[in-house]
Amino acid sequence: MSGLDREIHVYSLNVAHFLYDYSRCFWSLLADDERERASRIKHQETQQCFVLVRSCLRSLLGRYLSCDARSIRFALGEKGKPRLAGLEPDRGLVFNVSHTGNFGLIAFASDTALGVDVERRRPMTDMDGIAERCFSAGELAHWRALPPDRCLQAFFDYWCFKEAFVKATGQGITLGLESCVVDLSRQPRMDLIPNSYGNPDEWQVAEIDAFADHSAGICYRGAERKLRHFDEEALVNILFTDVTHRGPE
Ligand SMILES: CC(C)(COP(=O)(O)OP(=O)(O)OC[C@H]1O[C@@H](n2cnc3c(N)ncnc32)[C@H](O)[C@@H]1OP(=O)(O)O)[C@@H](O)C(=O)NCCC(=O)NCCS
Repeated sequence: MSGLDREIHVYSLNVAHFLYDYSRCFWSLLADDERERASRIKHQETQQCFVLVRSCLRSLLGRYLSCDARSIRFALGEKGKPRLAGLEPDRGLVFNVSHTGNFGLIAFASDTALGVDVERRRPMTDMDGIAERCFSAGELAHWRALPPDRCLQAFFDYWCFKEAFVKATGQGITLGLESCVVDLSRQPRMDLIPNSYGNPDEWQVAEIDAFADHSAGICYRGAERKLRHFDEEALVNILFTDVTHRGPE
């Protein structure tokens, strides 16, 4: 399927680049429950980000599966991870989404466990305390030994890779960010994970260089695959074709 048996596809988008005048069109791609959920989000930027990212997700899924973006149905895992539902066959297509502020990331793969995370690198008052709670002794030692100008980025890099792992498992933060250990000393890699998820070597982590002043990471299970990163230009045409095509009433 579009190289997804050997590749991971990542799409990044900045909501601010999409004209707000068009935002009502994006709502038209959503299912009733998604529209209800969106209307409950009071913070405008968060609402617009959810609507745009979800409509992009639908449009892209529609392309991968050759079906109408509006016909896609989602089911939620035990801890809320969305997956495709009721599609026969879904060709093993898996996806994961992350958003922060105006920025969204959507990743696709086939037949694996997949998680993504993006975080804005911002100073936090209790960064050291958070690191003590969420980092292993080795991670903490490595992080504390870094020169001060590299600490902020390294903190959020650790955070993103760990969160991408717990999202790949579907457990999310209930698994605990401290449950996995990442080695950032050279090429990022998983060093330790809970036994039930196999051997750390069976998992891959990679940086996504998508947005300035943000850390972003992806984690998936299996042998290393080629990471293809598409920017918004690839998305705009797909999305606008879908929103201007009204689909079956
Ligand atoms: C998933 C989770 C890590 C998100 O953290 P975050 O940094 O706030 O948000 P992100 O933007 O990175 O990710 C959000 C996206 O992850 C996906 N997601 C939700 N739950 C997920 C899970 N358990 N595993 C993987 N992905 C999940 C969704 O697609 C969501 O975006 P959407 O709702 O717009 O589709 C966090 O909410 C979590 O751990 N949830 C599970 C535990 C929980 O509290 N569950 C309550 C509901 S059962």
